[in-house]
Amino acid sequence: MVSYKELGLVNTRKMFAKAVDGGYAIPAFNFNNMEQMQAIIMAAVETKSPVILQVSKGARNYANQTLLRYMAQGAVEYAKELGCAHPEIVLHLDHGDSFELCKSCIDMGFSSVMIDGSALPYDENVALTRKVVDYAHQYDVTVEGELGVLAGVEEEVSAAESHYTKPEEVIDFVTKTGVDSLAISIGTSHGAYKFTPEQCTVDPQTGRLVPPPLAFDVLEAIEKKLPGFPIVLHGSSSVPQDEVDTINKYGGALKAAVGIPEEQLRKAAKSAVCKINIDSDSRLAMTAAIRKALAEKPAEFDPRKYLGPARDSMKKLYIHKIVNVLGSNDKLENA
Ligand code: G3H
Ligand code: 13P
Ligand code: ZN
Repeated sequence: MVSYKELGLVNTRKMFAKAVDGGYAIPAFNFNNMEQMQAIIMAAVETKSPVILQVSKGARNYANQTLLRYMAQGAVEYAKELGCAHPEIVLHLDHGDSFELCKSCIDMGFSSVMIDGSALPYDENVALTRKVVDYAHQYDVTVEGELGVLAGVEEEVSAAESHYTKPEEVIDFVTKTGVDSLAISIGTSHGAYKFTPEQCTVDPQTGRLVPPPLAFDVLEAIEKKLPGFPIVLHGSSSVPQDEVDTINKYGGALKAAVGIPEEQLRKAAKSAVCKINIDSDSRLAMTAAIRKALAEKPAEFDPRKYLGPARDSMKKLYIHKIVNVLGSNDKLENA
């Protein structure tokens, strides 16, 4: 058993309370490899932002759970080396799907876990989430639960249709489970294809697809039921069209990829939404930079020559999200 406190990590409790009060959101960026982790930490340090490093079940399988945990421990030391005396870094399990997985992460030094029982019948979601909370809280680890279903198909997270969170269920769920934060479904979804072209309109000036707005009425109804309670938004990539264009220009084939407009995320961040999950945008930035570097220098075979530009591009993206979308810059307690 390793306590996250020994690793210099923090849980989400204080961070979320401050974010809800201050009308901004904490970035939750997924990482699977060293370059992503370095880019996230550099961006967080430069902007003086708290940050959540998220590890999915797929990331654990890809990169090895032990390595990822040591990387997160390294991230704390790296942030200090970059000049941040008191970094606020959370190591969070993204979409945990069983008690055993959550327990394993808690025992390894994670400071926060998500138990995603959203696909289960309501009572089973409550029971599973309660079990994780009871275990996690013994070690001061915070827990995110989920109500409502996001559409989207990915390796470890899949659902054909979305179902908005029912505001009439949230008080009962939060009370019975004791969760520290609640992920909701208001129209976002995972991946780079969040809406079909049929769901969108076309901007006459640019010819780009414009997605339908998020269900802010559902968010408002949830906030009324749970005033000040930390709300989490998954599936919040914006799918930058310049990255999509670069990928396609250099041999990619991303057709009709559409994300959540940043304007809507800005609006959400000012509400009780205090954690915004972004993974796909980083994947797009990384892929675009690698494709470009390889296409422009076909004789290059030193991975540092294409992973380096990819890391620079992700860092730029993370800084942009922190400063221009979530507003979590300059929010460290002791910078
Ligand atoms: O919510 C899902 C995250 O984007 C993680 O995706 O399961 O492919 O690692 P993954
Ligand atoms: P995106 O696919 O929109 O980046 O969402 C990531 C996410 O919700 C991780 O849990
Ligand atoms: Zn998610």
